[in-house]
Amino acid sequence: MKIGVIGGGQLGRMLALAGTPLGMKFVFLDPAQDACAATLGEHIHADYHDHEHLRQLADQVDMVTFEFESVPADTVAFLSQFVPVYPCAESLRIARDRLLEKNLFRSLAIPVAPFAAVDSQEELEQAVASIGLPAVLKTRTLGYDGKGQKVLREPADVAGAFAELGNVPCILEDFVAFSGEVSLIAVRGRDGTSKSYPLVHNTHRDGILRLSIASHQHPLQGLAEQYTASVLAHLDYVGVMAFEFFEIDGGLKANEIAPRVHNSGHWTIEGAECSQFENHLRAITGLPLGSTAKLGESAMINFIGSVPAIADLAAVADCHVHDYGKAFKDGRKVGHATVRSIDSAILQRQLAAISVLMAAGN
Ligand SMILES: Nc1ncnc2c1ncn2[C@@H]1O[C@H](COP(=O)(O)OP(=O)(O)OP(=O)(O)O)[C@@H](O)[C@H]1O
Ligand SMILES: [Mg+2]
Repeated sequence: MKIGVIGGGQLGRMLALAGTPLGMKFVFLDPAQDACAATLGEHIHADYHDHEHLRQLADQVDMVTFEFESVPADTVAFLSQFVPVYPCAESLRIARDRLLEKNLFRSLAIPVAPFAAVDSQEELEQAVASIGLPAVLKTRTLGYDGKGQKVLREPADVAGAFAELGNVPCILEDFVAFSGEVSLIAVRGRDGTSKSYPLVHNTHRDGILRLSIASHQHPLQGLAEQYTASVLAHLDYVGVMAFEFFEIDGGLKANEIAPRVHNSGHWTIEGAECSQFENHLRAITGLPLGSTAKLGESAMINFIGSVPAIADLAAVADCHVHDYGKAFKDGRKVGHATVRSIDSAILQRQLAAISVLMAAGN
C-alpha cells in the first residue's frame, strides 16, 4: 500500500514511522526542500497548486491524506479526480475555515462562545459592540500555533486590529475564561466505526501547545465523545480528528477541530495500545481500528525552538524522545518527549526533570 501525504512535516514523518511496519510506503508532497518527513519516503518537491506534480503523486499512490488543514480546496478537488482522498474534501473545507467550523458546531447544538464574522474594520466595531471585550479576533483561514489572531482587551486594541491581521476575512470570538483546555482525539473508519482516546489536558503558552497530559476517567469524556461523534457522522469523516474544547463551568465549549493527527495526540505513540498515527492509517486503508486504551500515565512536552541534549533526556526514566530533524528556530516545534509512568506523582517528577533541561538550554 502506498500512501500520498500532502505536507512533509513532523506529522507526515510520524505517520510514516507508524505505517512502515505495516508494509506501507509513503510519498510526501511539500514545497519545502528540507521537509523533515522526506527521509522516510519519497519527496515530491512541489507547490500545492502544481497540478503536474499533484498528478504525478496521484498516479503512484493508492490514496492521499493530509498532515495539515490549510490545503487549498482546488488541490483536494484536483486530487479527488484520480485517487481517494481521506478525510473528504468537505471535511477539509469546513475545518480550514473557522467561521464554517463554528457554524457547523452551532447547527449540531455543540456549545460555542458567541462569535461573529468580520470582513472589515467597521464590522469589527459592530461585532465588539455586541460581543463585548475581551474578545479574540482570528483570521478565518491559515491560522496555527496562535498565529493569525489577536486578543482585544480594551477599546484601544480595536482600532486598526483588522488591518493588523492583514485585512482578510476574520471571526471575532468572545474571550472564554476557561478553567482548562482539553482535546479529544477520535478516529473513524471507512465503515463508520469510531473510537476515542482518553481526553487530554493541554497547556498553551504564547498560543503554542506546550504540555499535554492524558487524563484518567475524565468526567467530561462522555460529553466530548458525544460532540465529536456528531461532527464525525455529519461529515462522514474517515481518519483521525482532534477536537479542542474549553472547559468552563463543568461543561465544554468547542474551540476547533483539526482534520488530522494532532500534537495533543503524540503521547499515544508510547502511551496507548495503538497510536493516533497508526489508527489514522488503519482508518484510511480500511483496516480494523486499533485499541485506544491508555498504558498507564502519560504526558507529552513540546520542544519549541530547540531540543535539549538527547543524552540528558535519555537519562530521564521512561522518557521517549522525538527530534523531528528540523532546523532549530525560535517559536518552531522541533521535537517532543513523552514520559510514561505507573503513577502520576512520578510523572510530574519526570516532567520537572525535562523542564530543568529545557530551561538550561535557553
Ligand atoms: N476565544 C478564546 N478565548 C480564550 N482563549 C482562546 C480563545 N481562542 C483561542 N484561545 C487560546 O489560544 C490558543 C490557540 O487558539 P486556536 O486553537 O484557536 O488557534 P490555533 O492557532 O489553531 O492553535 P493550534 O494550532 O495550537 O491548535 C487556544 O488553545 C487558547 O489557549
Ligand atoms: Mg487550537
